[in-house]
Amino acid sequence: MFYDPDIKKSHGLPHDPFKSLVAPRPIGWISTVSTDGHVNLAPYSFFNAVCYNPCIVMFSSSGLPDDPQKHSWRNAEETGEFVCNIVSEELKDQMNTTSAHVPRGVDEFELAGLTAEPSEKVKPPRVKESPAHLECKYLRTVEFESEEAHHTHGVIFGHVVGIHIRDDILTDGMVDTLKFRPVARLGYMEYTVVDNVFSMGRPDVKIPNAAE
Ligand SMILES: Cc1cc2nc3c(=O)[nH]c(=O)nc-3n(C[C@H](O)[C@H](O)[C@H](O)COP(=O)(O)O)c2cc1C
Repeated sequence: MFYDPDIKKSHGLPHDPFKSLVAPRPIGWISTVSTDGHVNLAPYSFFNAVCYNPCIVMFSSSGLPDDPQKHSWRNAEETGEFVCNIVSEELKDQMNTTSAHVPRGVDEFELAGLTAEPSEKVKPPRVKESPAHLECKYLRTVEFESEEAHHTHGVIFGHVVGIHIRDDILTDGMVDTLKFRPVARLGYMEYTVVDNVFSMGRPDVKIPNAAE
């Protein structure tokens, strides 16, 4: 089949397939603080690292009719900081709980029974239960308009200024993905967990894992 995603429902399928094709997507569990000091936590699967020297990450917020600029976007812009907490398999339910659309003052750490641990270089706390955290300074937002006025997308970029890695997910000095089993988003309401890993050399890279 072929369809033009700009023509609404031209795929003729019961649900839009786009997000299930760009999958799996890692989940950035974004913690922020508002200007008046309220802590916020929410998952974003339009999330990724975009380069590593310097380390830059992004997450993308899609507006809602009653909330065109989600709290994580607003807080990151207004206070200039955010933290990306990594979601391991055992945290999947708490992560999901923090996606609830709740008023701006509600602390999703409390809502999901998570522990807020102070960060080293930024104000937003980290999810203590997460196996790794990226402390970020806000860089810029790139906005994409939508045909639906409320549905503006804001892609928020941040410079990673601090990285925490829990010691027990390292094996021989390398991050051991199978020790924390990151959760990733597929399409629809589906998820996956990294539960197998293979290595492959590159024709022109001699040292395994030395570059991208
Ligand atoms: C696994 C998962 C991934 C999500 N990814 C996104 C995303 O990439 N962009 C987005 O706007 N909302 C995403 N959401 C929905 C937000 O988490 C939800 O709208 C949340 O209430 C936003 O919170 P905030 O306003 O406190 O930032 C996702 C939800 C889940 C459960």
